[in-house]
Amino acid sequence: CGIVGYIGKNEAAPVLIKGLKKLEYRGYDSAGIAVFGDGIHVVKTKGRLADLDAKVQTMGGVEGHVGIGHTRWATHGAPSDVNSHPHTSMNGRISVVHNGIIENYLQLKAELEEKGYVFASETDTEVVAQLFDYYYDGDMVDTLIRVIGRIRGSYALGILCSEKPDEIVAVRKDSPMLVGIGKNENFIASDIPALLEYTKDYYLLNDNEIVVLKKDGITILDLDKNEIKKDIYNVTWDISAAEKGGYDYFMMKEIMEQPKAFKATISPRIVDGEIKLDNIKYTDEDIKNINRIHIIACGSAWHAAIVGKYVIEDYARIPVEVDLASEFRYRNPILDKNDICIIISQSGETADTLAALREAKRQGIRILAIVNVVGSSIARESDDVLYTWAGPEIAVATTKGYSTQVALMYLLAMKFGQARGYLSAEEVKKLTAELELVPGYIEKLLTMDEELKELAKAHAHANDVFVIGRGIDYAVALEGSLKLKEISYIHSEAYAAGELKHGTISLIEEGTLVVAIATQDPLYEKLVSNVKEVKARGAYVVAIAKEGNTEIAEVADKVIYIPQINDKFTASLNVIPMQIFSYYVAIERGCDVDMPRNLAKSVTVE
Ligand code: G6P
Repeated sequence: CGIVGYIGKNEAAPVLIKGLKKLEYRGYDSAGIAVFGDGIHVVKTKGRLADLDAKVQTMGGVEGHVGIGHTRWATHGAPSDVNSHPHTSMNGRISVVHNGIIENYLQLKAELEEKGYVFASETDTEVVAQLFDYYYDGDMVDTLIRVIGRIRGSYALGILCSEKPDEIVAVRKDSPMLVGIGKNENFIASDIPALLEYTKDYYLLNDNEIVVLKKDGITILDLDKNEIKKDIYNVTWDISAAEKGGYDYFMMKEIMEQPKAFKATISPRIVDGEIKLDNIKYTDEDIKNINRIHIIACGSAWHAAIVGKYVIEDYARIPVEVDLASEFRYRNPILDKNDICIIISQSGETADTLAALREAKRQGIRILAIVNVVGSSIARESDDVLYTWAGPEIAVATTKGYSTQVALMYLLAMKFGQARGYLSAEEVKKLTAELELVPGYIEKLLTMDEELKELAKAHAHANDVFVIGRGIDYAVALEGSLKLKEISYIHSEAYAAGELKHGTISLIEEGTLVVAIATQDPLYEKLVSNVKEVKARGAYVVAIAKEGNTEIAEVADKVIYIPQINDKFTASLNVIPMQIFSYYVAIERGCDVDMPRNLAKSVTVE
């Protein structure tokens, strides 16, 4: 979910709605605002921000200079008008927006019902509004501290009280929120894009720091009401980075930005053929002593982790375990004191990933984070951070985020490989030179746009798609398949090509689309055989192969060629046609590419 709060010289409603539009990637099944004019006015609706905007317009606007807003990704209670935020106490005095989950809400709800509170929604958030009202004693901070003492779970909260028209109080725990610093106006928001039009200065918050937001001042307090002095951060990127810039969708803009993002991620770290990983505090001795690496992530970041496993194990001969964050944290993982954890996350806020990080940390394991959002929770809580310099990623389906994560997997693998004596300085020099060719190769693949659009048109009505590959090609198959299914809603599965015959091949029928990634030289012939196997069952096969490997054209129906490159780095190229193909299939099917149904970009609930 996304939260915005505004207090200041301007009308609040337009600022809130504009801000929420920028946060829509965080959830988009309902939205709402609460503005203080002559009392608190709440407008909310199921649907997108555009629906909320229309509702506000029909009402002739909502006047007032203070307000909070929310765009929702439903957890407790289906998307509906009544379950949308803000939630208000029964008497209308308190209004609350919330991102996160209040775990003990049923118990609190029962308690409040006994005291005569009547609930309008099924949400956990309404409990916060009612509880706040119950404890309210004329002081917002005192009341908030009492409320924090009672609620359990994760939260970023923005709270408005009809008796305090000149302040908003806010707090966060395990859910992101920052404070925007303006002139005669101040803001809270879940993420930077909501603020960019108004200010580039902001404060980051730690858990349970309380914000008192006034028109001309911001006070940040701990739970004992001691004031906390904070550093001011500056956004380094421009507002245009968070705009579509002429493209129909952010996803296409971000696909096109991949050469630049990849380059920005590797270039500063390759100095005269040597890999310099910022100021991460690993000596060669530390690297030699690594017993095992656990790479932990969710979604596409998890797919980047799988590429990482193949490359690190091969280059550095360190055993790598790849874990889904939501599994790792609950499975009592076996960790050795000489293990390290690599946490991968674009947003740096994914709740399960953050929880997994904390579990590893609790067990005393050293944490290296690979994160895109500077200053995010995962970045701040890790021992070392390597940023993927992809710039802001807005489309829910990641593209440049994933590609830059993979880029860092390569650098780490080579660095570790050299430190452990498996790669010589000379080999690293050669490999890094080859890696530096990748942005140009991606550029070349991006010119296949039209061809892939035609292919997408021809297959837009497929019922099932299978993406197969071996080795790193399998890792990319996972990502390619996810891209397709998440934005086009076509059922798609990735399979290790050799495993297909153990069951899944029974699903291949006349015309079933199979994408066969065949870019691992030692496994190329095996892949050609797999293509023959599915062809014999009637599949329509689109192969991805290296330029020059033309035999596959004799068995596949169509071949997409990628430039000749070493097997490891193919992951960065193979994914590109898969992204573009998925994009056009989704367009052809009339899907909202940037905001696929039921999804959100930043999943800050567990
Ligand atoms: C969500 C997004 C995915 C993303 C995953 C992990 O599910 O829709 O695209 O890969 O979260 O996000 P992170 O920010 O941790 O990389």
